[in-house]
Amino acid sequence: MAILKIARMGHPALMRPALPVSDPTAPEVAGLVEDMIETMEDAGGVGLAAPQVHVPWRLVIFFVPEGRGGADSMPLTVLINPEIAPLDENMEDAWEGCLSLPGLTGLVPRHRRIRYTGFDLSGARIEREAEGFHARVVQHECDHLDGCLYPMRMRDMSQFGFVEDMRRGAVEQKAEKQEGEIA
Ligand code: NI
Repeated sequence: MAILKIARMGHPALMRPALPVSDPTAPEVAGLVEDMIETMEDAGGVGLAAPQVHVPWRLVIFFVPEGRGGADSMPLTVLINPEIAPLDENMEDAWEGCLSLPGLTGLVPRHRRIRYTGFDLSGARIEREAEGFHARVVQHECDHLDGCLYPMRMRDMSQFGFVEDMRRGAVEQKAEKQEGEIA
């Protein structure tokens, strides 16, 4: 097990599309996932994508903490070669953070309901419907696989800044709610 270095916004590792994982059951995939879990826990995030630790594979991990964003909790999930389809046109705004943009937060529109598919480490197919925070974290992580960071999804850049400083302003409560929702 090892704690991996997390790339920050601007690093080329975050900008390029990741490649499909040819064999989800390969031992090197399991080894990477083990290190990613340790890295995510150390950093206090709820999700992490392989490109964030300089590995260009289509692989993300995430979990949904109890009571977060009104969503049901979801145990740690390893999602390999994920695909996402929105289930309706509804978008909703909520505050996000990202381990690749430490200390920052922004108001990001996401599809409220999605279906996602992929594979776990045993090669079994995963297919789930998700909404709210669960849907948001999956969209956020999978965006990393296509070189997209959350500020690129934002519509209003006045709603982007340092968590510590935004707490001073009118968005105080929202920014506080955001605490811990870093992926
Ligand atoms: Ni992120």
